Amino acid sequence: MVDFNIPIKGRKGFYVRMKFSHSNHKHGRNKEIINNHNFKRNSIIFYRAIKWFVWLFISFYLFISFPPLRNHYSPSPSLSSSSPLSSSSSSSLAKPRALAETQDTGSSFADADDVKIYVYELPAKYNQYWVQNNERCTKHLFASEVAIHRALLESNVRTFDPNQADFFFVPVYVSCNFSTINGFPAIGHARSLISSAVTHVSSAFPFWNRSRGADHIFVASHDFGACFHTMENVAIEDGIMKELRGSIILQTFGVKYKHPCQAAESVVVPPYIPPGSVRATAERWPLDGRRDIFAFFRGKMEVNPKNVSGRFYSKAVRTHIWRNFNNNRRFYLKRHRYAGYQSEIARSVFCLCPLGWAPWSPRLVESVALGCVPVIIADGIKLPFEDVVPWANISLTVAERDVAKLGSILDHVSRTNLTAIQRNLWDPNVSRALLFNDRIEKGDATWQVLRTLSTKMAHHRTRVSDQ
Ligand SMILES: *[C@@H]1O[C@H](CO)[C@@H](O)[C@H](O)[C@H]1NC(C)=O
Ligand SMILES: *[C@@H]1O[C@H](CO)[C@@H](O)[C@H](O)[C@H]1NC(C)=O
Ligand SMILES: *[C@@H]1O[C@H](CO)[C@@H](O)[C@H](O)[C@H]1NC(C)=O
Ligand SMILES: *[C@@H]1O[C@H](CO)[C@@H](O)[C@H](O)[C@H]1NC(C)=O
Ligand SMILES: *[C@@H]1O[C@H](CO)[C@@H](O)[C@H](O)[C@H]1NC(C)=O
Ligand SMILES: *[C@@H]1O[C@H](CO)[C@@H](O)[C@H](O)[C@H]1NC(C)=O
Repeated sequence: MVDFNIPIKGRKGFYVRMKFSHSNHKHGRNKEIINNHNFKRNSIIFYRAIKWFVWLFISFYLFISFPPLRNHYSPSPSLSSSSPLSSSSSSSLAKPRALAETQDTGSSFADADDVKIYVYELPAKYNQYWVQNNERCTKHLFASEVAIHRALLESNVRTFDPNQADFFFVPVYVSCNFSTINGFPAIGHARSLISSAVTHVSSAFPFWNRSRGADHIFVASHDFGACFHTMENVAIEDGIMKELRGSIILQTFGVKYKHPCQAAESVVVPPYIPPGSVRATAERWPLDGRRDIFAFFRGKMEVNPKNVSGRFYSKAVRTHIWRNFNNNRRFYLKRHRYAGYQSEIARSVFCLCPLGWAPWSPRLVESVALGCVPVIIADGIKLPFEDVVPWANISLTVAERDVAKLGSILDHVSRTNLTAIQRNLWDPNVSRALLFNDRIEKGDATWQVLRTLSTKMAHHRTRVSDQ
């Protein structure tokens, strides 16, 4: 079995866990500075006092230790502004585990195996049917919906007893209906398929109604998450599907500002790249090998972008890249598909990762995995696992409006701190965090999802009890 206990980075962790309703605690760890057995003998007033004290202590600790990091973690404004007492008074044995526990990890790394997840077994039409229909379902850029499901099925965080579960995973594959015309996933049926799954789960089991879905997890690995549309304006208009607004959504979409498509609780996950493919490429092209391409991009890049319902693909950023650098021989820009593109990434120093319809792109993961410095051109993008992947130290960010200056920016970096960036980027822990394996490996993408979920438990409890 996989050992989840070691934090991914060397930073010293801070960890507090309190249990109120479950005496069958898995294992005493000395990291648990408060042992639940002490609590049980004492009166409710005593634990409220302790809880207050711990909350104050955590707040103070976070305040003095990690001011710039606070926003990434569960003690969000909504949590710190609501009284922990009011939530503890509503906790009871009937509450789902995720909602009845308090856990705060500050900026430390929680144990991913502290989480227990019940994986619903749904009729094949919601998932297996699509894989049997087309094996591509498991490999394309949205395939984290399949990868996370498979990894959970085999993992030691899976529980077969829903009463023990902190979270409930609802496995619906919505990205596997490939268009016969262009090969892209047709997601027109996403809403009805998920809605039907929610109806199934909420009528066949009591757990959805108990929390109004708050401890239920879905994957929405689309352009704009659970808004299920490729065009941002339509996605925004449609909003997150009603049934999922109270649930937890694992999504590739993320921005640092308020956006209707991240109005539900969400975890930003990396786009799916089959780990075997990048590993095979990396074997042939070692990270520190010769990189004869200075700046690389291959992908859709309209020379004269079309105005589709008032919007230009990539906000015309890709077009500007093309117009400015197509004749610059240090820029290797290609507009057509090529199966061997991963070796081009492996041969490049800088890999451009401009927005498409959505800010994120699979290039982010491929560049990192193949050691090419990602040049992120997508204003406001929220990247996956920002608390463990040191994005600022392994990539460059260029504002959309500065695309014309790319040449001088990249020159400057290659003369100054390129070596430092590459050293950070080539840390194997970084690419590990962005790849989904069939079986969870410590530090991989599914593991990071579990770790993030474990930090969310306290947040959830407060959110639900405030309703
Ligand atoms: C990578 O992660 C392991 C634990 O998973 C840790 O021991 C090691 O120090 C990390 N390496 C770096 C360079 O951070
Ligand atoms: C799959 O997509 C096609 C359009 O490409 C659509 O006509 C069909 O209804 C979809 N299938 C399902 C089951 O939603
Ligand atoms: C949950 O609530 C829905 C709608 O109120 C209801 O139809 C369903 O039967 C309930 N489920 C259970 C298991 O009671
Ligand atoms: C794009 O098209 C919309 C109408 O669909 C129009 O209102 C808008 O002005 C156009 N934008 C540009 C920059 O041409
Ligand atoms: C980034 O690098 C700087 C300087 O080397 C270092 O102080 C900082 O801790 C690094 N940040 C992360 C998130 O690793
Ligand atoms: C490298 O230099 C660029 C340009 O000066 C700067 O924006 C970036 O933060 C630096 N990165 C690191 C990891 O030092």
